[in-house]
Amino acid sequence: MRIPLASSGLRPKDIEEVIKTLNSGNLTMGARVREFETAMARYLNAKHFVMVNSGSSANLLMIEALLRPTYGKSLLSPGDSVLLPAIAWPTTVWPIVQLGLNPVFIDVDLETLSIDLNMAQKLIDNSRIPIRGIFPIHPLGRAISNAALKEFSLKNELVLINDVCESLGSWDGKLHAGTEGIASSFSFYFSHHITTMEGGGIATNDDYYADDLRSMRSHGWSRDRSDAAEWNQNLNNNDSKFLFVSTGYNLRPMEIQAAIGLRQLEDLDTFVSNRRRIAATVSKALDNSSLRVVGAKTLEFESSAKSHSWMLIPIQVMGPNARERKEKITRHLNELGVETRPVLTGNFLAQPAIQRIMRKLSDAEKFVNATKIAQEAFLVGAHHDLDSDQINFLCQSLNSASKI
Ligand SMILES: Cc1ncc(COP(=O)(O)O)c(C=O)c1O
Repeated sequence: MRIPLASSGLRPKDIEEVIKTLNSGNLTMGARVREFETAMARYLNAKHFVMVNSGSSANLLMIEALLRPTYGKSLLSPGDSVLLPAIAWPTTVWPIVQLGLNPVFIDVDLETLSIDLNMAQKLIDNSRIPIRGIFPIHPLGRAISNAALKEFSLKNELVLINDVCESLGSWDGKLHAGTEGIASSFSFYFSHHITTMEGGGIATNDDYYADDLRSMRSHGWSRDRSDAAEWNQNLNNNDSKFLFVSTGYNLRPMEIQAAIGLRQLEDLDTFVSNRRRIAATVSKALDNSSLRVVGAKTLEFESSAKSHSWMLIPIQVMGPNARERKEKITRHLNELGVETRPVLTGNFLAQPAIQRIMRKLSDAEKFVNATKIAQEAFLVGAHHDLDSDQINFLCQSLNSASKI
């Protein structure tokens, strides 16, 4: 038996939508994308949702629109410092670097695996460099408190943007994870909570920012903006279809992606409750063992259960020699057919690319919690498609591995 980390997630009814859409002849961004955006905005209780071709593109666009808005003052300028968690995904960090901002890493909290706000506050209080933004990741399905992020960013006058690419379907009370602040990014890469094969998007409540995202997603043109008519009043010999009002990329999604997304979104709640059930079963099976499910506390109380949508299950090896045991445990699991992987990228500061872009060699080991997680923890799959035999096999395999 195999317990994969990822599964295509495409069902016959999703594929039917693809064929219907291809046969309609409408291929590039159009009505289905707009329909999916409306459905996502409704789901997230956000004013706007702007679909793009990946979660990485969503992160890039969120930063571009902060740097070069068409109206008003830029919320960030080149050279500004932005806080990021030491356990990060590359394309959360790269847009910061690529667009001339300065990444400042903060160690993670061992329970949430995201930015430790107490450490972030200490850095702000003791640092001579002014910090202008914070870009937390809501990791692996775990909602980080919106109220805490809002309070922290207001107190320190920071622009708050959220990477929610791993945490669709995760709620912090009545608010979806990451929906405080200016914007939040989502990914629909295959095996995420819903898939559009590749795909992503940005949620925001800011009308001007949403219009800039729409322009910047598509060469910088005015066509998809809500204020296109106003721009058209002063065409200055330009054609309204070819009026470019901002910087831009081509990060547009395709109609087939939106068509799949619409079908998948209908079943998101079921997918997420399956994932929670898998995490609860695994956590129970590991009670009193030397392995701990990181984030299992959210499963203990009905009130907090929805704050985790379990993209994957993080498992930490406890007790002495955890680092050496993790190597043996993951090898054993892989031999049994249970796939494992590092927690995101491990300690991101230990990645070779970071050494190349930071001016001085970054000291990865100073990030004690990120190093601990990289050395002692691993991920197993929690895909909503796993059947009960696979879930039992996963629990048995983890149980036998815990005795190593
Ligand atoms: C935290 C985080 N941000 C961004 C991304 C990028 O998303 P995508 O793969 O859709 O580009 C990922 C990928 O899964 C991710 O885990």
